[in-house]
Amino acid sequence: MKKSKVTYPVIGKEEERLLLKVLRSGKWWRGGTLQEMKESVTGQFEKEYAKFTGAKFCLAVSNGTAAPELALKATGLGAGDEVLVPSISFVVTGTVPLLVNAVPVFVDIDPETYQMDPADIERKITKKTKAILLVHYGGYPADMDRIMPLAKKHKLVVIEDCAHAHGTQWRGKHVGTFGAAGTFSFQMSKGITSGEGGAIIMNAREMFYKCYSYHHIGRLEQKGFYDFFYPAWNYRLTEFQGAMLLCQLRRYTKMVKEKHAAGAYLAGRLSEIGGVKPLKQDKRITRRGYYYFVMRYDARYFNNMPRADFLAAMAKEGIVMGRGYGKPIYKEPLFQEGNFGNNSCPVKCGNYGKVMDYKKVSCPNAERACAGEQLTLHHVHLGKGKKYIDSIADAIIRVKAESWKS
Ligand SMILES: Cc1ncc(COP(=O)(O)O)c(C=O)c1O
Repeated sequence: MKKSKVTYPVIGKEEERLLLKVLRSGKWWRGGTLQEMKESVTGQFEKEYAKFTGAKFCLAVSNGTAAPELALKATGLGAGDEVLVPSISFVVTGTVPLLVNAVPVFVDIDPETYQMDPADIERKITKKTKAILLVHYGGYPADMDRIMPLAKKHKLVVIEDCAHAHGTQWRGKHVGTFGAAGTFSFQMSKGITSGEGGAIIMNAREMFYKCYSYHHIGRLEQKGFYDFFYPAWNYRLTEFQGAMLLCQLRRYTKMVKEKHAAGAYLAGRLSEIGGVKPLKQDKRITRRGYYYFVMRYDARYFNNMPRADFLAAMAKEGIVMGRGYGKPIYKEPLFQEGNFGNNSCPVKCGNYGKVMDYKKVSCPNAERACAGEQLTLHHVHLGKGKKYIDSIADAIIRVKAESWKS
């Protein structure tokens, strides 16, 4: 593996040049008509991002929360439709169905991959289930070999939240291109960033035009600028963000390859050490884009040292690791307290057939992972070269040895 000096966020002369060009052009928004949008800097990014992912269409939007909301809205989901979502992800994955008046139903994770467990997906399907909003958590792909046939069998729409998975490929195909749409976040902590930003990729023209309209206050591509056809937000990206994304994307292909190699190397080192397991190695993952490198902590190898103490010991060694989002989404106050809006909310008042009580939800694998098992290492660590990866592994070895001295 080649030594790399990658830091984060990576910027260069290209960003400076293009940002200045946009600044001096006096055109800071991407325009109002479809043609203007296509010809904008953001339009150029969309073209290149579509090519990068192998999708036919890409629409840049204001963030990675707007992206899955638009995608779900464009599929025609409505009040009372159930959407299967993973129990472990950023809260947005649970919130977004609520934003289109649908009902999130939480699915447990596979303990070895931390991705949605296809067997639990099947268990949770009801007559009301219309969609699966899956997440390629941490950048590790969900099992598309099992999920897509399930979706086909039960006529479910699949939306892939790829907020963590820029560059991830399953059997050589970029994630986000298996289902009806793939959604991305370009928020500051992500592999490609413009501070804030998002995108939707898809192959169907109709889906693209719906998302286009919903992100553009309900305008239609062939109609007048002051003709509006749907109630919808303004989720357009600015040209400054488009310029940043274009530059970031052009260097990302190299970065994602380096991080893929670094992740594989770290996984190998961890397997030799024991007690901090990487997620299951799977040959079908042909490229791994990372949000974070997820690991499974086993306290028994560390003289029963709690995870919090392990994290503190690693921080003392200079390696800052995380524990993911801390709890399954359904444990958030939003779901525990049922703060879904006023009494006309179909989820809260049961208009859709039943009253949802998320206090009763239990996903044991997700709860175990959150309680004391999951460890995360932000993708920036994977860009620091082989010596640095070795220093992470060596720090774990030292912490392990110390744990048995007490
Ligand atoms: C899985 C997932 N989906 C959606 C989002 C929302 O993205 P944004 O912060 O760009 O709105 C995030 C943010 O980190 C995320 O992790």
